[in-house]
Amino acid sequence: MSFKPAKWPRKLRSQHWYGGTSRDAIYHRGWLKNQGYPNDLFDGRPIIGIMNTWSDLTPCNGHLRELAEKVKAGIWEAGGFPVEVPAFSASENTFRPTAMMFRNLAAMSIEEQMSGQPIDGAVLLVGCDKTTPSLLMAAASTDLPSIVVTGGPMLNGQFRGERVGSGTHLWKFSEAVKAGEMTQEEFLEAEQSMSRSTGTCNTMGTASSMASMAEALGMALSGNAAIPAVDSRRRVMAQVSGRRIVQMVKDDLKPSDILTMDAFENAIRTNAAIGGSTNAVVHMLAIAGRVGINLTLDDWDSCGRDVATIVNLMPSGKYLMEEFFYAGGLPVVLRNLGEAGQLHKDALTVSGKTIWDEVKVVENHNDDVILSTENALTQQGGIVVLTGNLAPKGAVLKPSAASPHLLQHRGRAVVFEDIDDYKSRIEDDELDIDETCIMVLKNCGPKGYPGMSEVGNMGLPPKILKKGITDMVRISDARMSGTAYGTVILHTAPESAAGGPLAVVQNGDMIAVDVKARSLHLDISDEELAVRLSKWMPPKDTAKSGYAWLHNAHVEGADTGADLGFLKGCRGAPIPKESH
Ligand code: FES
Repeated sequence: MSFKPAKWPRKLRSQHWYGGTSRDAIYHRGWLKNQGYPNDLFDGRPIIGIMNTWSDLTPCNGHLRELAEKVKAGIWEAGGFPVEVPAFSASENTFRPTAMMFRNLAAMSIEEQMSGQPIDGAVLLVGCDKTTPSLLMAAASTDLPSIVVTGGPMLNGQFRGERVGSGTHLWKFSEAVKAGEMTQEEFLEAEQSMSRSTGTCNTMGTASSMASMAEALGMALSGNAAIPAVDSRRRVMAQVSGRRIVQMVKDDLKPSDILTMDAFENAIRTNAAIGGSTNAVVHMLAIAGRVGINLTLDDWDSCGRDVATIVNLMPSGKYLMEEFFYAGGLPVVLRNLGEAGQLHKDALTVSGKTIWDEVKVVENHNDDVILSTENALTQQGGIVVLTGNLAPKGAVLKPSAASPHLLQHRGRAVVFEDIDDYKSRIEDDELDIDETCIMVLKNCGPKGYPGMSEVGNMGLPPKILKKGITDMVRISDARMSGTAYGTVILHTAPESAAGGPLAVVQNGDMIAVDVKARSLHLDISDEELAVRLSKWMPPKDTAKSGYAWLHNAHVEGADTGADLGFLKGCRGAPIPKESH
């Protein structure tokens, strides 16, 4: 940690709008004063943007306006001036074709909101899956002092005495209905029991994983990730974060001081320890790209390889975020990583202290929720990166969610050309498939769907489910919900819509998966592969205008984070020219 706080007081960027006696200063101040602000609030104190991803159509973030009031209280207490700003809210459960398509649009719009307005620092008020990475990407590109406050997870779901996890049980119940083990009426009854309170998914899905990533990166205060949305301590966290951002602005503690390679390596190991979402891979690659850190897919495999998964939460384990919080939450995991020599202890956090200083004395209150390394769910919990002639730029798999007997497997490909093809044929009992086959889904990558939808964990054919089989090897260029499970190979790059080898897999080809050897091989000759690729025709791009066109024209591969190429890098927040 080599950070040295800046001198205070000094002139902040917001004073270029509100300071002085010029006509323009009077213009800017005068308009804001229509909200009833006294004159002395424009005396050079930090103006903090609360970038709020609240939306009625992002129910996971539906309580963030209430939480923003606590953030504001903290900012006022510390001598700052809070301004709440509505930020693009990419809802996982609402946006079509997929919220992922809008992560980059959200990041772009929020970056411009932060850099084009009189904001000295930001509280990133986030929760649902894409809201966390999009705001972190924006903050990284502006490099304005920023702190993450997540909305927190929902309380445990309960259905007929069983703990019910967001998403995870949706997939389970849906398969049970197809297998004839659950009635449609029971499925409908379970619906409300999955979402008992405000908040994000209560499993270690993508929202909880990204909240954990923010904390492990050092971009949120210690303990932020697991506090339930409705717990009073979530409000306390919001208020103290509001206080803290004011001091961060005074100290000029910026994302680039925190988001170092060490911080990203800490986050990768943390994701392995918590059994976190595969979605974290694309998001962390994209955030790193915004600060010029050369994080690669290989780093995911090499850093996470020997990290045990010790958090016993769905989808890999049995508990939910509420129990994780009661057990001590992420600080316990970080302490364990530190004791195992798997944490860069000197990494700086938004508190101004090192990550190790934040966690070194915390205690585990439930060793069935946060397991000892000896009792870990798996000793090698990291994201596995497979390469081979089917994925020259890599594909990912989450071993802790996979079936051990399928980690080395050779099977006959059953190919679905796109998601519509899959949906139209999967329930047909005439489909030529058995449990030894490998299901292959094309055209669902960043350009393909478009937006890289979460369809990689495609459901098994009913005729196989009815045999009691619950897992098969599945390969695609799509993503998978962080709440999902199975032997699912994702993010295959280059994607099929960009002419990757996945595009030319044919029904009946043999595919070999060897997780130990990190290989994914299409069993045809190099010559045959070259011939097939030479005949490949790109799918007709239907988007001729609008954001969909912009996205498809500029989105990069999953192996580098699926960002829009022209948004990569840190542009800072230069003072825009006066317009009057
Ligand atoms: Fe929003 Fe899971 S769908 S957090």
